[in-house]
Amino acid sequence: MALPITASGFSWTHADRDQPAVGPLNLQIAAGEKVLLLGASGAGKSTILHAVAGVLPEESGEATGELLVGGEKPDPRRGSTGLVLQDPDSQVIFSRIGDDVAFGMENLGLPAETIEAQTLKSLRALGLDLPPDHPSAALSGGQKQRLALAGIHAMAPEVIVLDEPTANIDPASATEVRDAVLTVQADTAATVLVVEHRVELWIDHVDRVIVLGGEGIVAQGPPAQIFSDPDLTDVLIDCGIWMPRHSPTPRRGGSDGIGRTSGRLGEVLLRTDGLSVARPRMATPAATDLELSLCAGQALGIVGANGAGKSTTALTLAGLLPEFSGQVLAEAALREGAKRARPFAWPSKQLAARIGMVFQEPAHQFLTSSVAAELELGPRLAGWSATESQARVDELLEGLGLTGLAHAHPQSLSGGEKRRLSVAAMLAPRPRVLVVDEPTFGQDALTWAGLVEMFLDALEHGSAVVAVSHDHAFLEAIGADLLELGDRSRLVRIGTSDSDSRVRAGDRSE
Ligand SMILES: Nc1ncnc2c1ncn2[C@@H]1O[C@H](COP(=O)(O)OP(=O)(O)OP(=O)(O)O)[C@@H](O)[C@H]1O
Ligand SMILES: [Mg+2]
Repeated sequence: MALPITASGFSWTHADRDQPAVGPLNLQIAAGEKVLLLGASGAGKSTILHAVAGVLPEESGEATGELLVGGEKPDPRRGSTGLVLQDPDSQVIFSRIGDDVAFGMENLGLPAETIEAQTLKSLRALGLDLPPDHPSAALSGGQKQRLALAGIHAMAPEVIVLDEPTANIDPASATEVRDAVLTVQADTAATVLVVEHRVELWIDHVDRVIVLGGEGIVAQGPPAQIFSDPDLTDVLIDCGIWMPRHSPTPRRGGSDGIGRTSGRLGEVLLRTDGLSVARPRMATPAATDLELSLCAGQALGIVGANGAGKSTTALTLAGLLPEFSGQVLAEAALREGAKRARPFAWPSKQLAARIGMVFQEPAHQFLTSSVAAELELGPRLAGWSATESQARVDELLEGLGLTGLAHAHPQSLSGGEKRRLSVAAMLAPRPRVLVVDEPTFGQDALTWAGLVEMFLDALEHGSAVVAVSHDHAFLEAIGADLLELGDRSRLVRIGTSDSDSRVRAGDRSE
């Protein structure tokens, strides 16, 4: 049975913040309704989902008003609400997939035979035709999200809340995950509340769109109505909503929304020689035969399906993993005083000054206790004067919409805010080579454009950028050449005159 969700004057203020993360909010979602919740990064979307799932600890902040699920205060122990998060890895608990699906039912104390039968049924319903003892670690990101959904399916949920369930997976698998959500909804008739920045994936499949602004709901209605109402267009754009079939324009970029289509390339900074890459302790390489040279002012996008070795290649180019075979070599312009040619052989201080790296998971990277300190760290270590550092910090805070959060703790930021901070902290001291893994995930259209500008600025200053990304609009905006990893690694150049490659790069249909 599905449950309705109602909020009246509900607001939530985190203990260490002056402003409410969300609200006051008035909301009525009917039992069985499918709702897409939109809003800028930091608007409070995740906070609402956590409140509905009953996982906002009372002592961690202050609530006003009321939020009820099925007329009662949300309580995660009742097992009626399923929660799916962004990061596929964080949701897989057990080493065998069957145990993951069975976990929730075991907590409810169901009999063993029921659990066994339902586990098989739910795995199959989510398109995971695999034996229950199949290793969870062998699943792709999209399959892991479907496994999380199988666990929820098995519990016959009354409400399902999903926080950017497709943000970290490749576009082809994103469609499968969305369809899996729809399958669970069809089988259980549950109320569905999903947050996702990229609206196109969902608008044909939800009953209602709710747009969250700075002060509560700014628009709501059926998707067709919301996105065709000319009076709403400006409101939605101001909230950073990704309008269907419309790309935001970075300020430095061209009027057609494409930021940079040609650029003067400088000296070679980094090149590879017969490079193969592998994860530590793996006997077989993840990608082979990589012949690249990376010049000042050049952007290189590494693309390909999950598991194609993109992150491994990025880490190896960044000098953080040893080559499996062949070499990564820094040319004189990048070496500048470093004795050895291989970045992997450099002491960490030499490496950090020359090659900046942003990992896939932002939270692993924070070293200080405030946003401003995090941004200031790199310039300070690089020996910038206090005035120069301060100017750089202010520029980055402003450009990425983090000014109001300068004193906030990095770990207390929203998902999209954390991602922007991790990218900005790496950009701050202007390293010559920037290696970034999914730099744009979790961004609204405005913060996305801010990030694009930061990268264009770095390229103009003669840095080279290597970006692992599923976001083809981003790669196109920074004028990236593409290295497509797969069966056979290929280097594809995006050029203004080559319409074929433009189409490839411009295709960001989810
Ligand atoms: N644990 C926390 N402690 C303090 N403040 C927090 C915490 N979590 C989130 N916030 C703040 O609350 C506000 C809303 O955060 P929330 O995570 O709900 O935003 P969001 O809409 O989900 O953003 P995003 O799209 O970036 O994920 C933000 O200003 C954020 O910095
Ligand atoms: Mg969020």
